[in-house]
Amino acid sequence: MRGKFITLEGMDGAGKSTHIPDILAQLQARGVEVVSTREPGGTELGERLREVLLHTAMAAETESLLMFAARQEHLSTLILPALERGAYVLSDRFTDASYAYQHGGRGLAAERIAQLEQWVQQGLQPDLTLLFDVPVEVSVQRLAAARTPDKFERESADFFRRIRDAYLQRAEQFPKRFRIIDSNQPLDQVKLAVSAALSEL
Ligand code: TYD
Repeated sequence: MRGKFITLEGMDGAGKSTHIPDILAQLQARGVEVVSTREPGGTELGERLREVLLHTAMAAETESLLMFAARQEHLSTLILPALERGAYVLSDRFTDASYAYQHGGRGLAAERIAQLEQWVQQGLQPDLTLLFDVPVEVSVQRLAAARTPDKFERESADFFRRIRDAYLQRAEQFPKRFRIIDSNQPLDQVKLAVSAALSEL
């Protein structure tokens, strides 16, 4: 049987990384193989592209193409083979981030992203997407306290407002796949919400 594809999304500072170990443990408790990965990255080439993407200024089109180049490699060499052998794949970000950041944040037409999505994914979509959501002020505050911010983390509150709006719009458009996790509450509550969403799978 084909495995399940789970993605984690949210703007920088929404706290999704905090929950990855717990999510992994919960999925592994089902006795299935779980592959944990991230975007951009997840492959040797993808991680090299990540270095470039996170630290080099470039046109929004270039940024999108490189994100999808990394994604193609990720799908071809890691995600699809894992799903085909029945493993669960947990990816820290996927294509919804391209809609949120390159379309919402950078203003590239959603249609351009959709074309790349179609080309690279040929209809493949995650089975479940957890959207970690916090008010923009919370995310901006957390980022201000962070160590060395990357190119995206140095963006303005306005940029993050557009990211959040774009993510929430995606969730509204695909309610079957998305679960919005309110991450602006005590950690235990967030964990409960994550467990509830995973148990639906
Ligand atoms: P992130 O996942 O936040 O990693 P870390 O927690 O180590 O900072 O960093 C990835 C960055 O890449 C994030 O700012 C969002 C951005 N990104 C896009 O702009 N488009 C995409 O398609 C993807 C996958 C990520």
